[in-house]
Amino acid sequence: MSTSIFHKMRVFIDVKQKLIEYLGTPYFSDNNCMLYCVDSVKAQKVLPSELFGLVITSPPYNIGKEYETVMSIDDYILWTQKWTRETCRLITSNGSFLLNLGYIAVESKGHAIPLPYLLWNEIPLFFNQEIVWNYSAGVACKNYLSPRNEKFLWYVKNKDNYVFNLDEIRDKNVKYPNSKKHGKPRVNTLGKNPSDVWEIAKVTTGQNCSSVERTPHPCQFPTDLIDRLVLGFSEKNGIVFDPFVGSGTTIESCIRHGRFCVGFEIREDYCEIAKKRIKNYYNRIPQLFIWEGNDQYVTV
Ligand SMILES: C[S@@+](CC[C@H](N)C(=O)[O-])C[C@H]1O[C@@H](n2cnc3c(N)ncnc32)[C@H](O)[C@@H]1O
Repeated sequence: MSTSIFHKMRVFIDVKQKLIEYLGTPYFSDNNCMLYCVDSVKAQKVLPSELFGLVITSPPYNIGKEYETVMSIDDYILWTQKWTRETCRLITSNGSFLLNLGYIAVESKGHAIPLPYLLWNEIPLFFNQEIVWNYSAGVACKNYLSPRNEKFLWYVKNKDNYVFNLDEIRDKNVKYPNSKKHGKPRVNTLGKNPSDVWEIAKVTTGQNCSSVERTPHPCQFPTDLIDRLVLGFSEKNGIVFDPFVGSGTTIESCIRHGRFCVGFEIREDYCEIAKKRIKNYYNRIPQLFIWEGNDQYVTV
């Protein structure tokens, strides 16, 4: 095990201590993650800067889900400014912010305005790229086309220096893998660039068609989607933050891929779902190495 891994573990231990100092006892915590049952806006505000290398999140869209109180558009934009200002401050100098956004109805303007049109310029970081998440299942519409995508806005703190592990997320599905030019392989043997359009199935619900990973949370990210983001945009053993953690998809994905994770969630019932999910994950894997301090690993 390299020193740099131990160094990164110590960094996580330091971050944990800081979080406990500023936020008190977490709802759940172990050697890989920390989950707080808090209002993300208030909790982020009290934390010191530059704690997390990557932020992945899907905030409330202000569309009347069971976990949100609908605000006016102006108030929603103000609320977004408030929490994203803090989130950006918490990101390290080579870090990224991956913000998932869907659609919202705006009276007399449109029934499904893409939230990125309203919010993209409210985030005080460099806008690096938009990733389109395309999925096949969803509501079937009669008077307009059935919506089948959401976006991830990818922001970076420093446009000339950010973590991007392309080889970790290459698409193995290459059409002509053996094609050569002047005797040399024409394509990267690890696969091709996965492009900015990702076709990944949604988490579905319903009799006989529920996804295996489905929890009782109403808006769950698919793990395949978050796995790709964690692998592609964070350092191994780095610290990832999800300020609206919901069912804990980001936490599970981070643990699976050797990243530390901090999550905030306002509702205790969802925190409980996330906690159970993490524990179930540990029960499913045959052997897990956990950090015990003093440069020691034990298996559980
Ligand atoms: C779209 S869901 C996130 C789902 C998550 N990505 C998953 O895979 O399960 C948004 C979450 O934000 C939580 N939330 C809403 N307002 C919050 C706040 N002020 N602080 C913390 N969490 C909040 C909601 O309870 C909800 O679980």
